[in-house]
Amino acid sequence: MHELMVRGGTPLRGTVKVKGSKNASLPVIAASMLTDGPVVIEEVPDLLDVRAMIEVVQSLGARAGYDPSRERLDIDASALKSLEPPTELVQNMRASFLVLGPLLARFGKATLALPGGCAIGSRPVDLHLKGLAGMGAEYSISGGVIEARADRLHGERIYLDYPSVGATENIMMAATLASGTTYIENAASEPEIVDLANFLNSAGARISGAGMKTIRIKGVEGLYSTRHSVIPDRIEAGTLLLSAAVTGGDVVVNNVLTDHLKPLMAKLKETGTVVEEVDPASIRVIREDRPKGADLKTMPYPGFPTDLQPQFMTLLALSNGTSLVTETVFENRFMHVDGLLRMNADIMVDGNRAVVQGKNTLRGAPVQASDLRAASALLLAGMAAEGTTIISNIDYLWRGHSCLEERLNNLGAQIECRAFPISYRAEKTGE
Ligand code: EPZ
Repeated sequence: MHELMVRGGTPLRGTVKVKGSKNASLPVIAASMLTDGPVVIEEVPDLLDVRAMIEVVQSLGARAGYDPSRERLDIDASALKSLEPPTELVQNMRASFLVLGPLLARFGKATLALPGGCAIGSRPVDLHLKGLAGMGAEYSISGGVIEARADRLHGERIYLDYPSVGATENIMMAATLASGTTYIENAASEPEIVDLANFLNSAGARISGAGMKTIRIKGVEGLYSTRHSVIPDRIEAGTLLLSAAVTGGDVVVNNVLTDHLKPLMAKLKETGTVVEEVDPASIRVIREDRPKGADLKTMPYPGFPTDLQPQFMTLLALSNGTSLVTETVFENRFMHVDGLLRMNADIMVDGNRAVVQGKNTLRGAPVQASDLRAASALLLAGMAAEGTTIISNIDYLWRGHSCLEERLNNLGAQIECRAFPISYRAEKTGE
């Protein structure tokens, strides 16, 4: 494992580019298992989770080559040899479960370990399984492994009890090759769902309504070669915008889709931070005065994203007011609070709500990351704090960001990465 040493107190200034979306790349890589020819995916960021997903599809027999210098991934799934990714791969990263729908749709069979829970919650897959069963799949679970089979999936009208991103993705992918038409109602509408639908349609699928509450998928006989560029990562963009806000800086973030950042931009303005849309692909954040407090409630898209809640709490911890943060998506997504408290923050957690009493300064301290977005929140806090912060278990950060430390140092941050002897069993990442 590695740790970051962060010397705080420098306002960040300059321009930074956002990389491709982790949460669009992972389902698109899984969806390539549906295609019967070479696929080129561009703007794929060099992340631990992307590398893990590539390992999963290679374990099925797909040929996959990733060029980090060009952020380009070439995949050919025309001759898969296995329908059972290794258990440790699936258990280590939840997104691996997204190969279930494609394998069932194309081959009528799949065997996968159920993804384990992780730091932020139990992360069940009941909605995935209920939807696929509705389309004719049968499955049995024993010893934490699911055996699924389907002669041929058939179109169905499926209502999701909760607009689950993963369940929407798994069902949408499965429906592309089902016989007949599928409607997913109360579907997730995140931008990553739209990007996945665009990828699938470019390969011959017939999907309409992605991004709305009802998605219609007309089954086709097969999907073929295509080329796709992944959308920019809205969560990385939000984290970079917040790095300017927490340090009292002035930063332009490029390669964004401003439409995807409306909830964050609105909430930042509520704290008195200056937010300017420089052009449709760039946003500038300037923070001159101490931020005001603002209440925050995470919701499925287009509400405020849960994946930016920890980072935004770091800003609220520095505000001149009291804020109520309500986390409605995951049951345990305040793991970053312990680290912020060690840094002199004043936060009281009660179930899925946290009351944040802003303080004038945070103070550097040794803290421990528990998951990807908690690592981001602690990194922001370290850059804003007086003194030096040591963040251990920083490998979590690399699951979702590539070269983030370098890009922040180019804006004036003082971040140094160093390895430290593993004095304890490295925890499984598990998300
Ligand atoms: C995706 O996870 C993202 N991951 C998460 O980002 C993100 O936080 C989440 O969507 C919500 O936006 C990827 O896209 C790879 P869900 P996913 O299914 O699909 C419950 C990050 O940091 N639920 O929408 O797992 C679930 O327990 C990660 O980048 C069920 O109850 O999210 C949770 O409480 C973290 N049954 C809620 O729904 C199910 O069958 C949202 O989960 C499925 C989900």
